[in-house]
Amino acid sequence: MPRDRKDYFYRKARDEGYRSRAAFKLKQINEKFRIIKKGDTVVDLGAAPGGWLQVAKELSGGKVVGVDILPIKEIDGVDTIKGDIRLDDTVEIIREKIKTPDKTPYLNTGTKGTAGADVVICDAAPNLSGSWSYDHARSIDLATSALECAGKLLKPGGGFTVKVFQGDMFPDFLEKVRGYFVKVKAFSPEASRKQSAEIYVIGRELLSGAVKMDEEYTVTIEDMGASGDGIAKINDFVVFVKGAKTGEKVNIRIRYVKPNFAFGERIG
Ligand SMILES: C[S@@+](CC[C@H](N)C(=O)[O-])C[C@H]1O[C@@H](n2cnc3c(N)ncnc32)[C@H](O)[C@@H]1O
Repeated sequence: MPRDRKDYFYRKARDEGYRSRAAFKLKQINEKFRIIKKGDTVVDLGAAPGGWLQVAKELSGGKVVGVDILPIKEIDGVDTIKGDIRLDDTVEIIREKIKTPDKTPYLNTGTKGTAGADVVICDAAPNLSGSWSYDHARSIDLATSALECAGKLLKPGGGFTVKVFQGDMFPDFLEKVRGYFVKVKAFSPEASRKQSAEIYVIGRELLSGAVKMDEEYTVTIEDMGASGDGIAKINDFVVFVKGAKTGEKVNIRIRYVKPNFAFGERIG
């Protein structure tokens, strides 16, 4: 990005009371993808000094938790944690902060008693060494940790946004994100410095992981749905099977996966 543009967002952040220029990247991502909605519980990984936290709080008005290895100066209505996002202990501390009673017994959250976050965002970056391939690899490593955190913290259907530095490991990372979410896009907001080649990956609608597209299962129909489809459960995950009746044992192939249920087609 030309120096004058960089200074433009720097001055804008200062004038509007944001702690970082990065605040405008989150605003631009949200304008395009509406990743944060009113009332959402948001977890921000790699959040210092707190520009994204300020924007997340404005957008959601709900519970917002920020994590960084560096301390984050207090922000009204935002919880902060000093911790490394690569460590399981940190994920446990975050989980405690966002815990709410689980009112959705049909959802296969795998974390009974916790409903989790609606959105996990991550702008974390390694300290730059100057060696592009090394920095790229460390950025992918951090983004992968963030993806794993998101998998543990999000409600089914939740959303994820993460920054990565582009390079040869990027396509594999994108593929990994596709294994977690129904829809995945990459996006460069205008407020990103072009020469840094940073890009944001946006994953929408977390899959539960209980069933996978095109996989085959043998299930027993336990009930009938309102639309006349049979209902089976795979690890507590609801699968609708057209034309199957209660008590039948059927072989199915998964044809469509949504965050909270799937459709299976009879085979054989
Ligand atoms: C670009 S800054 C984030 C800016 C922030 N989005 C804002 O608007 O203020 C990247 C942050 O990632 C943090 N970070 C890097 N590695 C981390 C890790 N393993 N765990 C937690 N935070 C990390 C750094 O300390 C740094 O504060």
